[in-house]
Amino acid sequence: MLINDLLTPNLESADSRREIVHLDNVCKYYGQDDTLVKALENVSFVIKEGEYCAIMGASGSGKSTCMNIIGCLDSTTSGQYFLDEEDVSGMEEKDLAKVRNLKIGFVFQQYHLLPQLSALENVMLPMAYANVSPKEQKERAVAALTRVAMGHRLNNRPNQMSGGQQQRVAIARAIVNNPVMLLADEPTGALDSHTTAEVMELFGELNASGITVVMVTHEADVARNTQRIIWFRDGQIMNDHLSPSDLHHVV
Ligand SMILES: Nc1ncnc2c1ncn2[C@@H]1O[C@H](COP(=O)(O)OP(=O)(O)OP(=O)(O)O)[C@@H](O)[C@H]1O
Ligand SMILES: [Mg+2]
Repeated sequence: MLINDLLTPNLESADSRREIVHLDNVCKYYGQDDTLVKALENVSFVIKEGEYCAIMGASGSGKSTCMNIIGCLDSTTSGQYFLDEEDVSGMEEKDLAKVRNLKIGFVFQQYHLLPQLSALENVMLPMAYANVSPKEQKERAVAALTRVAMGHRLNNRPNQMSGGQQQRVAIARAIVNNPVMLLADEPTGALDSHTTAEVMELFGELNASGITVVMVTHEADVARNTQRIIWFRDGQIMNDHLSPSDLHHVV
């Protein structure tokens, strides 16, 4: 090795990507005294822009509690949460709602589409709060639905679509405001294996286009599509950088 190699800083290993999620010593307790539950205990980790992470662990280990905090749906008992490098720990609900709407797209196991609205109207909904003209709302919703291969079903209501198609519409709704991060809690929990594979391919494409993706899953086959697994046990992090290829050691 040349002496210059030793003296030159290794720029490639310095990860200068933006921190999208930064939890610092976060605790979340429910109840008190006899009924106290320590759902999260001193949880710290960082997720950087463009990462694709799974959150795994046994039932009751704190996964949903952690997702709710990351998604600004719930606040911490103590500790700090920086979302996209902004401290949101002490924010009031109305400011939190604004941040949530602008920065995060949610995908749930049960899709949560409004049954009386068409696919197009469901996807336009998040923009109603984002000060976007009706014409642009429609254009952006059509583009998002086309991106998830649902451009041909704009006028169908949820009960006229399969589970996989409904989840595609829910994903279009989640990306239509160009969020910095997609959060998904068991997004394939209600889907068969073929449809699961299709939806996972879609998440992979969205991540490849630059969106940070964080997903809770019980299924090893789903987690294998991600790049990194954060493993919870009893409200604490057992491993925050488990490689999907090491999964067979734990499950
Ligand atoms: N609102 C609440 N009040 C009291 N305890 C709660 C509340 N929400 C969650 N808990 C408790 O916090 C702990 C963590 O729950 P959490 O829902 O985060 O688990 P999980 O890992 O998502 O489990 P699962 O895989 O079953 O969805 C559990 O012991 C749970 O009973
Ligand atoms: Mg849960």
